[in-house]
Parts: sequence; C-alpha cells; structure tokens
Amino acid sequence: MKLFLDTASIEEIRTANRWGVLGGVTTNPSLLAREHAAPETVWKEILTEVHGDVSLEVTALDADGMVEQGHTLAQMGPNAVVKVPMTPEGLEAASRLRAESIRTNITLVFSAAQAILAAKAGASFISPFLGRLDDIGENGLLLLQDIIEVYRNYDWKTEVLAASMRHPIHVIEAARMGADIATIPFKVIDQMFNHPLTDKGQATFLADWHKSGRK
Ligand code: E4P
Repeated sequence: MKLFLDTASIEEIRTANRWGVLGGVTTNPSLLAREHAAPETVWKEILTEVHGDVSLEVTALDADGMVEQGHTLAQMGPNAVVKVPMTPEGLEAASRLRAESIRTNITLVFSAAQAILAAKAGASFISPFLGRLDDIGENGLLLLQDIIEVYRNYDWKTEVLAASMRHPIHVIEAARMGADIATIPFKVIDQMFNHPLTDKGQATFLADWHKSGRK
C-alpha cells in the first residue's frame, strides 16, 4: 500500500519526503484555500517536489468545464492526476479524459455502487471517504472492504485510494484489506510513528550511556 499525504502544504510534503515515506499527494479545493500562494503555484511546487502521483481537483460543475480544467491540470506534470467529483458530470468528464489517456481520480465516493460506476468510466483511482462516513454514524472501513471485495472479482485497473483517514487504525485496517493507497493528513503520519515507549526507551538508553561517562 502506498502512503499519500492529503495536503497542499509544501512544508508537510517536504518533511514526509525526507522521511522517505511519501508515495504521492492528494489535494482538494479546501486544502488549497488554506494556502497563501495561488493554486497554480502551489500545484507546480508539489508536482516538482513529489515523485509519485499528485491529484489536482477541478472546480467546474459541468463536464465540458471539468474536461477543459483537466487538460490544463494534466499538462502541469507527468505525475498530475485530475480529480473529479462522483457526479454524473464528473463521470462523463472522467470517461472523456480517459479517452485521451489522461488519468483521473474520482473523489467523494461513499458507496460501492458509486465505486462500480467509477471503475466502468475508466477512472485510474477512486477515493472512498472513510472518516466522513464515520462522522455520520456509518462505518467507513466497511465501505472500503465492500469496494475491495467487489473490485477483486474483476480485472479492473482502477486503484482504491482510501481517503478521509482520521487516525492510524484507518491506515492499519486499509493495509490489512489490501487498499492500493491510503491518503492521510500529516497529523496521522505523526500519530503513526509517535509512541511514548519509543521516547522513554530512547531517553533511558541515552541516560545510561552518559551516566557511564561515555560521550
Ligand atoms: C481525498 O482526496 C480528500 O482530499 C480527503 O481525504 C478529504 O478528507 P477530509 O474528510 O478529512 O476532508
């Protein structure tokens, strides 16, 4: 399973890159809106920094507008993936972009039925949103399991990109199920490697070392 960062912050991306764990990045309009620089500047910076795929989301509502934006976004770099919403217009845009060999990520997927449509439309990736389902009292992990189970029956090329991940358990369970990718906020990477016993153990090792007079 690849680990993507769900962010538009270049600082967060650089940090994860230094740790050697970054497989790609997903952005969305809300994340871009938090940054001070213009979206084009932010996207270009991210595409250059990241070796893996970077999802850049369209904001048009109609298929023609999404395809037009998709052309611009896809030209920004070989690792650019055009993110379109799971709407009839988004499906049409994904299918038209697919016909031009432009890769898409269909986002805002909340059911296995939507995931089937997205695969049939030729999306390269689908993004089921786990956390937002949990937020309304449903089970995001069950959705992920359903989609992976359905996809396993066929030779569909669409990769399952588990999104809206809120904590390390989401990541561990997504990996257990065999999701292709998990995209996570920086906070969750931090939670994944921080453990009080690691800190305590490291402090004890160094204290013993120095107590013995060694430098
Ligand atoms: C996915 O690509 C989305 O950007 C993202 O995972 C949304 O997550 P949120 O529910 O934490 O906003």
